[in-house]
Amino acid sequence: MVFGSRLGEVDSEVAGIIRKEVERQNNQLQLIASESPASRAVLEASACVMTNKYAEGYAHKRYYGGCEFVDLVEDLAVERAKKLFKAEHVNVQPHSGSQANMAVYFSVLKPGDTILGMDLSCGGHLTHGHPASFSGKLFKPCYYSVNRESEQLDFGEILKVARECKPKMIVCGYSAYPRFIDFKAFREVADDVGAFLMADIAHIAGLIAAGVHPSPVEYADFVTTTTHKTLRGPRGAMIMCKEEHASALDKAVFPGVQGGPFMHAIAAKAVAFKEALTPEWKSYQQQIVKNAKTLASALAGKGCRIVSGGTDNHLMLVDLSSKNVTGKDAETELGEAGITLNKNTIPFDKQKPFIASGIRVGTPCVTFRNMKEGEMKVIADLIARVLASKDDGRIKSSVKSEVKALCDRFPLYDLKWLPGL
Ligand SMILES: Cc1ncc(COP(=O)(O)O)c(C=O)c1O
Repeated sequence: MVFGSRLGEVDSEVAGIIRKEVERQNNQLQLIASESPASRAVLEASACVMTNKYAEGYAHKRYYGGCEFVDLVEDLAVERAKKLFKAEHVNVQPHSGSQANMAVYFSVLKPGDTILGMDLSCGGHLTHGHPASFSGKLFKPCYYSVNRESEQLDFGEILKVARECKPKMIVCGYSAYPRFIDFKAFREVADDVGAFLMADIAHIAGLIAAGVHPSPVEYADFVTTTTHKTLRGPRGAMIMCKEEHASALDKAVFPGVQGGPFMHAIAAKAVAFKEALTPEWKSYQQQIVKNAKTLASALAGKGCRIVSGGTDNHLMLVDLSSKNVTGKDAETELGEAGITLNKNTIPFDKQKPFIASGIRVGTPCVTFRNMKEGEMKVIADLIARVLASKDDGRIKSSVKSEVKALCDRFPLYDLKWLPGL
C-alpha cells in the first residue's frame, strides 16, 4: 500500500533528488542573501498533516468545518508575530512576498493609482512597480534611486520625486540595499505628499526582530515581509498594519488575492516566530551583521569595490567592474568552486540585470552554521582566488576542496533528521 510507505520507497527518483539537494546545501557555501536554512523544528512543522486542511477565512470565522486545531495554530502565529514586531494587526496567510505586496496595494489602491518605489537596478524589488510585474502593469509606477556618489538613499531626492509624481503609496525596503533604512524619514516624505507608506522588510525582518536594524512598524501604514529570508521560517510571508487598515487588508488577502491558507506553512511560521523570540535570536542576528561587515572589509582588502563602502545589514554588493568579470560569469565560476551566490546589478549599472556588473553576498546561511569572523576572512580569500583565476580549472578545484573542508567543520543538515529519505 502506498499510503504509509516512506518517500524513498514510493518515489526513489524524487527522494534521490532531494538527497542531492541536501548534499548541495551541506557541502557548499551558501551566500545568497535571501536564503536562510530552516531549523529542524521548522522543517518538521512544514511537513505536517495540516497540508491536508482547507481553512478559507480567518481563525474562528472559516468557510469549512474541522478548523478547531488550525485555528489554534493561526492564533499562535498571529500572537507571536505581534509580540515579535510590536504590531497592531498581523495577517500570516500570504503565500509569498509578492502576494503580500499585492494584497497591500489592493487594500487601499485602485488600478491606475501611482506608486513610488526604488528603481530595480538600485536594489528595489519587481513588485515595487517594475513594468514586468503586476505592480507596474496595474498601477502607475514612478521611481527613486540612490545618490550617485554615496550610493545610499537621498531623502532630498526622494522628496523631490514624490512631490513631482504625487504617489498614493510610497514603498521602501529592498532586495539589494546594504545600508540602514531611515523609516521615519520615509514617513515624513509620505506625510508631505499625503501618501500611504509600505515598508517591505522581506530581507531584514530577522534583524528587525532582533533589534539590530531600526523597525518601520511605528511609521509605516503597512509592513510586509517574507518569512523565509533572515526570519528563517518556512517559505511564505506575512503583513503587519495599523488597526485602521486591518479589515481592508484581511479582505484583500482572502478572498482578494488568495484562496485557502497553507496551514502547514502557518504552523511552521508560528515555530519560526517562537525561535525568533528567544535570547539566542539576538546574538545570531548580531553575528550575521558582524560576519557581513568582516566579509565586506576582507573583500575590499582583496581589491573588490564594495557598493556604498560597506554594509549595515546581512548583505553586501560587490562591484566587479574593475576585476574585468561580469556578475554572470562570477556567479558561474564561483558556483563551480562550491560557492553559491547571485549576480546583481550595481546602482546605475550599464549591464542588463541578466549579466550585471556585480554580485550580492549575504551571511545568514554561513552564520547559521556557526561560522564567525575568522571564517569570513577565509571565505573572502576563496572568493578572491576564484575571481582572479581567469577560468583556471586547477584553482577552482583547489578552492572547491577547501570549501568542502570548511563545510565539514561546520555541519548543517543531518540526513537522519529528514523524513523518508
Ligand atoms: C524586498 C522583497 N520583497 C518581496 C520579495 C518577493 O518574495 P517572494 O519571492 O516570496 O514572492 C522579495 C524576494 O526576493 C524581496 O527581496
